[in-house]
Amino acid sequence: MKLRTLVLTAILMPLVSAAANIPRLEKQGTATQLIVDGKPFLVLGAELNNSSASSLEYMRPLWPRIAAANLNTVLATVSWELLEPEEGRFDFSLVDGLIAGARRQNLRLILLWFGSWKNGKSTYQPVWVKTNQQRFPLVQDEKGKGLPTLSALSDANRDADARAFAALMRHIREVDGDAHTAIMMQVENEVGVLGQARDHSPAANHAFAGPVPKDFMDYLQKHKDTLIPELRKRWEAAGFKMSGSWEEVFGAGAATDELFMAWNYGRYVGHVAAAGKAEYPLPMFVNTWLRQGPEKPGEDKPGGYPSGGPLPQVLDAWRAGGPAIDILSPDVHVPNYGDWCGWYTQSGNPLFIPESRGDARGVAYAFATAGKYDGIGYSPFGIDRLASPDGELAKGYQVLSQVAPLILERQGLGKVTAVLLDKDTPKSKVRLGDYTIEARFREGRGPGAADAVTGLFIQLGPDDYVIVGRSMGVYFETANDPAQSVGLAVVEEGQYVDGRWVPGRRLNGDETPEWRALAFGGDRYTIQKIKLYRYR
Ligand code: DGJ
Repeated sequence: MKLRTLVLTAILMPLVSAAANIPRLEKQGTATQLIVDGKPFLVLGAELNNSSASSLEYMRPLWPRIAAANLNTVLATVSWELLEPEEGRFDFSLVDGLIAGARRQNLRLILLWFGSWKNGKSTYQPVWVKTNQQRFPLVQDEKGKGLPTLSALSDANRDADARAFAALMRHIREVDGDAHTAIMMQVENEVGVLGQARDHSPAANHAFAGPVPKDFMDYLQKHKDTLIPELRKRWEAAGFKMSGSWEEVFGAGAATDELFMAWNYGRYVGHVAAAGKAEYPLPMFVNTWLRQGPEKPGEDKPGGYPSGGPLPQVLDAWRAGGPAIDILSPDVHVPNYGDWCGWYTQSGNPLFIPESRGDARGVAYAFATAGKYDGIGYSPFGIDRLASPDGELAKGYQVLSQVAPLILERQGLGKVTAVLLDKDTPKSKVRLGDYTIEARFREGRGPGAADAVTGLFIQLGPDDYVIVGRSMGVYFETANDPAQSVGLAVVEEGQYVDGRWVPGRRLNGDETPEWRALAFGGDRYTIQKIKLYRYR
């Protein structure tokens, strides 16, 4: 090799490998993981209030408090109006300030693009967009009145948004393409039409009366056997038609209006995501305002929640319309956390929770997200309020961060699982390896105050497990030979320090009732490392 080539290679190789190391998603068994700097990464995050990131001054005292709460990632807003105050003139000072603030505390960032929509409305678009409805059309109601929401059926809206998002991604690549402080992007925020099931603007009415687009029909045909069951049923009820208007193919009603909106939002947001990825391909997700239960009448119908957002029943329309979007995420501010996780992991959708709670129940959700649902991470909303070093979140994340490497090594491979317990589900049994493990809520020495807890079970070897729990008893049985009983050979509590197990007390006495059970007393998560044996 010539000297010049050698020198050039030496200079360029690190740049090439940093660029090739862009945070990305990768499969491990049945799981999808977020890879940061070449290693799987579990997001222990929290989201700032919407307006916090609009002032670096406001953020200054918050950064150290956030780091002290044991987070590794902050979810922070970038709003279109502040990024592009005049058309074509970009101001990246807030983005640069966020990146610098996060780096100083060794934190990663997930940036939330508040572009065309935030919670079903358009409130963060620049004034030059807001005040020009001729150029940037709004959603209309059935009487033709404009609502304060940009229409998803406008190329002008979409292209203006995509240009700004692309500029943002280009800038992130320029200032952060080596350091990878920013690891994922959320595109828009909780989109959908509020107050009615669909847009009735002229463009929307025209598209709704026209044929279902061929791209969507092709997708439906190709994925006929793996479609989300609700959608498949409705398509089947109308005779699996391969062409026709939306109402001909899927039947008339609010569910079809919602599907039509989902396709159009998916196309629009997918286009924005693709424009951003063309500049810098960070993993991208969208978040969802979920349907409430029947106890909140009206909010369980399309329009009562934003119609067309990526809810489970329309996931396929989003997949088909916006393939550049990697993850469709639920904001779980509703009950039945486990059910929502199940619905959002259908047909291989990776699980990331951008918004939920940060109390004891929320911490249980964080453990379950990682251990039971192979999730990429968890983030309660409102870190401004939650950031305290002795809060529930900080204590929970401290323990979760210790076992995160063990979880990540095993996600998708059947070697880690978890149960979520509360008063409605006080007992739960799972199989892991050759054992069944039953966790019983508030059983054990010194049950705590948490109203929901998670038991996390990690298999290290045929008889070796790490169990993380709080306020529960944990019982073992053999899964493959009922004639055998199970005993605890060794039970240690302890901690992982820099990935190394540091044992504390040996718990082979009153803390292990019935010889085959562990007791997780106290009111915080603790880690026990155990070896099991069998006897007759
Ligand atoms: C959901 C939204 O996505 C967030 O931006 C925030 O407004 C929360 N609701 C408030 O609970």
